[in-house]
Amino acid sequence: MCDIQILPPGRTFIERICQDLSLAIQRTVASHGCFSLALAGGSTPRAVYLRMAQLCQETPQLCQAVDFFWGDERTVPPDHPDSNYRMAMESWLGPAMISPDRIHRMAGEAKDLAVAAGDYERLIRKHVPGRENGVPTLDLVLLGMGDDGHTASLFPMTEALCVTDRLVVENHVPQLRTHRLTMTYPLINHARQVWFLVSGSSKAMRLREVLSPDPTTAATYPCHFIDPTSGQLKWYLDEAAAECL
Ligand code: 6PG
Repeated sequence: MCDIQILPPGRTFIERICQDLSLAIQRTVASHGCFSLALAGGSTPRAVYLRMAQLCQETPQLCQAVDFFWGDERTVPPDHPDSNYRMAMESWLGPAMISPDRIHRMAGEAKDLAVAAGDYERLIRKHVPGRENGVPTLDLVLLGMGDDGHTASLFPMTEALCVTDRLVVENHVPQLRTHRLTMTYPLINHARQVWFLVSGSSKAMRLREVLSPDPTTAATYPCHFIDPTSGQLKWYLDEAAAECL
């Protein structure tokens, strides 16, 4: 079961996501003392991060107990224009003056990506308590959806889609002629909440297929297999992205 929010584009879309995110952080920190958040990369979340930075500046304690992780990272240095870490630092974590102790970067620049993936899995296990069967339970994973129906760096026809025994892997993406680091389904699907943020008409046709009730259609896209075992799945769509639903 998933909750689909369809919102006017632009400010209303961003504001709703930020209000819900702020509320989720406040509630969880009040009851558990901390909040573990995996950030999405790409362009869609940037406007959300910019607004969250403003909210953090208005209410400095809002994100002080949030541990920040990344759902995936490109194989570039942290200061590279393509870095998901750089995008989040510039739009949110830097302006909000988040403590470096709470910022847990994926080492996309590593020479040995398999080692970097294992190191990141150990880091998550260190900072994020597990719920059942020892898999860390992130409080919230933010995800985007690519035009090909990928999410994080779980791309169609790539090996990471089949991983069941690791939480973070190196993934060869031949269609982009690159490698990525990415969280895997076991970790993402153990989260308490998973939110997709999808905006723009370019995503509309693909979104209709990904959310199709026909499993043979939907199952061709990695997004379809984001299905939290006991957590909540929410789609935040703007009206343009939802125009074909
Ligand atoms: C990345 C993201 C990726 C992204 C989608 C959507 O590293 O690029 O993790 O999964 O969320 O490609 O990207 P846009 O928001 O730019 O459309």
